[in-house]
Amino acid sequence: LQTLPPVQLAEKYFQIFPEERDPLWQNPCNDKRHKDIWSKEKTCDRLPKFLVIGPQKTGTTALFFFLTLHPAITSNFPSPVTFEEIQFFNGQNYHRGIDWYMEFFPFPSNASTDFMFEKSANYFDTEVVPKRAAALLPHAKIISVLINPVERAYSWYQHQRAHQDPVALNHTFYQVVSATPSASPELQALQSRCLTPGKYAMHLNRWLQHFQASQLLVVDGTQLRLNPAVVMEGIQRFLGITPFFNYTQALMFDEGKGFWCQRTENGRPKCLGKNKGRKYPEMDPESRTFLSHFYLEHNMDLLKLLDRLGQALPIWLREELQNTS
Ligand code: A3P
Repeated sequence: LQTLPPVQLAEKYFQIFPEERDPLWQNPCNDKRHKDIWSKEKTCDRLPKFLVIGPQKTGTTALFFFLTLHPAITSNFPSPVTFEEIQFFNGQNYHRGIDWYMEFFPFPSNASTDFMFEKSANYFDTEVVPKRAAALLPHAKIISVLINPVERAYSWYQHQRAHQDPVALNHTFYQVVSATPSASPELQALQSRCLTPGKYAMHLNRWLQHFQASQLLVVDGTQLRLNPAVVMEGIQRFLGITPFFNYTQALMFDEGKGFWCQRTENGRPKCLGKNKGRKYPEMDPESRTFLSHFYLEHNMDLLKLLDRLGQALPIWLREELQNTS
């Protein structure tokens, strides 16, 4: 029997099994053999019980903020690299391994009653994420926030402009959404990033290949913006979390901001920053009509999907379908 030093052995192994170069991390505590060789100081309790998966620009930061007010809910520590979100399952961070991921979570004081979570808004539409998330967190609950995809696309475009994206700055919204295959590759790439996350049913179906329907909750993002206390009640029920936290008392509407905020102890509102709930001109009617048609089929698919799952239809979906069909 021949062997090699560890690094060469690993190189040899991956020559023989190249398909295993891309890891699929599983929970070490779900397999006795893995647990037995794992360090005694480590625990699988430092993993989230639920994920807020996005998509971007639907109110995910507000949801994150409201969730952290709950006494039994704990979020991840912020990541300095990725603007607070961990973004573990979607990109190169995944290759840093599960120890890296677990470092973002505290040791829970009571693993059965504490609910840890993280929010990374581009998990929703990144192809590899559901498979990876299900491998490590097979029992996790998954929360997605959906607003009218037409509005989402516009908010995203405004976000890109605010971040000085040159392509967004040099093109109108209509030019972005209606770009044809003869447009520059940069414009086409921006268009795809603007429009693809809004094909909600397609992305949700991918999640449902890896998670049970009962693990998934679709939140109406318009309701979250207008009436967050009711939405937070539904989320607490879905998570099965105790104690029940009264968001009617914890939140207040701020007229100046035009959004719901935390009611602090001195009775003043604590709101999200200027980059959430931006002020920008209304969408032009031409873009709205174009996008309503663009998303019609996707919205119909979402209607069927939510019906099948027995989940409430978002108000914006009913309205959008009434207006376009
Ligand atoms: P706009 O800035 O375009 O208005 P995300 O956090 O997923 O990026 O979503 C940002 C959007 O959340 C904002 O988009 C805003 O409309 C919406 N939102 C919903 N509730 C909010 C709240 N309480 N405070 C600020 N923004 C909120």
